[in-house]
Amino acid sequence: MDVGEKLAQVFTHAKRVVVLTGAGVSAESGIPTFRGQEGLWKTYRAEELATPEAFQSNPTLVWEWYDWRRQKVHACAPNPAHFAIARMEAYYPEFHLFTQNVDGLHRRAGSQKVTELHGNIWRMRCVKEGKVVEDTRVPLEPLPPLCACGALMRPHIVWFGENLDPEDLNLAFGLARQCELFITVGTSAVVQPAASLPIMAKQSGAFTMEVNPEYTPISSYMDLTLLGKAGEILPELIKLFKV
Ligand code: OAD
Repeated sequence: MDVGEKLAQVFTHAKRVVVLTGAGVSAESGIPTFRGQEGLWKTYRAEELATPEAFQSNPTLVWEWYDWRRQKVHACAPNPAHFAIARMEAYYPEFHLFTQNVDGLHRRAGSQKVTELHGNIWRMRCVKEGKVVEDTRVPLEPLPPLCACGALMRPHIVWFGENLDPEDLNLAFGLARQCELFITVGTSAVVQPAASLPIMAKQSGAFTMEVNPEYTPISSYMDLTLLGKAGEILPELIKLFKV
């Protein structure tokens, strides 16, 4: 059986399926990815702004960046890749989506079994009380936002140097080890621990594939890399579904 036949067989017959997405899945919605030229904001990179240290030294600057990103996301809509992933959830008996994205577009496309590993851009958290609130104002004024208690609010996002929610992580590791098919979409696979999930799935016997216009550091571990845009490849793939 060649890899194409194997893909068709696994893709249509698998029962336990995990999808991991990164910024690339939202690229065709018009949301810039983090790395590469388009990932720059003013002259800053995400790695310089998405940290507790950056927030401590200049909360207004960090909030300006998030406000810019919130405005971008607000103006965007889910694309065919998001909708194809939502279709997968309806097709497979056991399905879970893990996303590194904070834009909420998967939910807007209809995904429900989704864990946002890095948080959500529409939520903020009091640095003193830890209280989380949803705030969808665009633009956000004044910056930085304050809690009713007077303390700073921060984005409810997992920053560089911070730990993911241990419950989310346990779920991700558990399902990566149990699934038959693991699909990564639009991630550069350089940020841990998300990048180790497909490797873990592969080591546990899953068929592993990635969808990305470029090869990534995990490509050599995958059973299959489909080079191309998620919004073009995923809608084609779900045509393999028999319903
Ligand atoms: P990156 O910006 O690192 O990578 C985006 C990936 O998407 C690249 O590999 C691109 O080749 C690919 N890509 C671009 N257009 C695509 C398309 N149309 N279809 C499919 N793939 C496409 O984003 P992430 O891997 O998500 O963390 O980055 C991981 C984390 O690093 C982010 O969650 C964020 C960031 O800093 C935090 O903010 C904590």
